[in-house]
Amino acid sequence: MDFQELLTWADQQVLTHTGKPLDDLQKAILRGTWDREKYSDIAKSYNCTEVHVRKVAYQLWKTLSQSLEDGEQINKSNLRSMFHRWQVSNLSLLSRDIVHIRDVSVCGNPSHPSEVPKQQQSDRSPSPNNNKPHIDRSEAPDLKYSCDRHQQLSTLKNLLLEEGTRLIAVLGMSGMGKTAIALQLLSEIEDKFDCIIWRSLRGAPTLETTLKSLIQFFSNTNTDQNHKNQREGEQLSLLIEYLRNNRCLIILNDLHQVLEKNRLVGHYQPGYENYRNLFQTIAELSHQSCLIFNSWELPLEIVDLKNKNAPISCLQLESLGKTANKILEKECLLDEEKWSELIDIYGGNPHWLKIAATVIKDSFGSRVREYLQYKPLFLGEELTVILEQHLSRLSELERQILLQINSQKEAVSISWLRENSDRSSSDMLNAIRSLGKRSLLEKIEEQNSTLFAAQPIFKEYLLEQT
Ligand SMILES: Nc1ncnc2c1ncn2[C@@H]1O[C@H](COP(=O)(O)OP(=O)(O)OP(=O)(O)O)[C@@H](O)[C@H]1O
Ligand SMILES: [Mg+2]
Repeated sequence: MDFQELLTWADQQVLTHTGKPLDDLQKAILRGTWDREKYSDIAKSYNCTEVHVRKVAYQLWKTLSQSLEDGEQINKSNLRSMFHRWQVSNLSLLSRDIVHIRDVSVCGNPSHPSEVPKQQQSDRSPSPNNNKPHIDRSEAPDLKYSCDRHQQLSTLKNLLLEEGTRLIAVLGMSGMGKTAIALQLLSEIEDKFDCIIWRSLRGAPTLETTLKSLIQFFSNTNTDQNHKNQREGEQLSLLIEYLRNNRCLIILNDLHQVLEKNRLVGHYQPGYENYRNLFQTIAELSHQSCLIFNSWELPLEIVDLKNKNAPISCLQLESLGKTANKILEKECLLDEEKWSELIDIYGGNPHWLKIAATVIKDSFGSRVREYLQYKPLFLGEELTVILEQHLSRLSELERQILLQINSQKEAVSISWLRENSDRSSSDMLNAIRSLGKRSLLEKIEEQNSTLFAAQPIFKEYLLEQT
């Protein structure tokens, strides 16, 4: 396969579909793409704007894709492999037998490229890019994070690299390890992408600001001159164009910062509702990239998108379970037989367990047994601040219900709550669902009913307050 073959093929295809041969810019785009140049470099050598190059390239990829029989799309990062596949299927059409190309044998019905063996199919998925990926980690924490979540990590890798998932939500309370797993993921898959950008939503940037910074990064411009007056719709179309033409990974950390407090879970703060347009666009339109966001809470529309079968996925980070023993071991705590009790009370949260370990070392001579006997449990200032942050997000009714549940020694049923509340049944059920989504309630399934109790650490905290 050489460039001249590609040029001849592309010329024929463009002539067939448009009635005109390739023009000079189209040839320059093919040459630049073949040489793995960026659009901005092609634009520079052709002396025109990058936006113009992208527009012409987008049209060219669409025209060339018409020559593929199974509806697959050609783009900048898969041009070589798609052309290679086209050659394979057309050669085999001629020989109607087995074709050997390099060391790969392709057998079977040649008119169905989707039946090409796995070894070749992996060629089709964008990337392994020989060029170094373009990465912006300027807003990612530069700390040493540990992450022992091998199973979730491989789930994420599978969603990204095999399943073509376009939107992934990584959910969990503070300290569960969302940032840690995202950083670990990044270090393991960065060579599979053309561009990677990490953005923090900690300062609650508006959607316009976030889009502007993404577009600046993807378009490789340092000033915002070119994109100054773009409206949201235009920004989104431009973003999608980049996500189509390149294999990009966007990580948005701390999405809950743009979600509203004192309301049921999953609503945006006023002025931030248009983040939903970003997620909807990324989930619904076709492209070859992915956006991952980390959050304490899941925005409501994501559930709707999932129900529409959009290629999106949610990964809830749960208790570390026995793996958390390693944290306690590292902290040199005593009374190993009591560790599982400690882990359960702290919901298997790595950060909270590290805080607990410090408290136990400082005040209980590292003796876990003695610490657990001390009632109400002593949580320490550092953890109290974090738990209060979670509780400060609840609606008034959620707070009431949580206190009501916590006032009982045993877990309570929905009918008990209904009997003991003057609120409508639907208000109450919505509030219970919301508490559940925030991981503040534990559900206990009995034979004929479901019982609810506060998550152990919140139970301890609320008891400490009364
Ligand atoms: N699987 C793990 N094993 C051991 N330590 C872990 C693990 N996951 C996270 N940690 C540690 O727990 C701490 C909190 O992790 P991290 O900051 O990733 O949590 P988070 O979910 O992003 O929290 P927040 O929502 O507050 O940002 C870090 O010190 C991290 O190194
Ligand atoms: Mg984090």
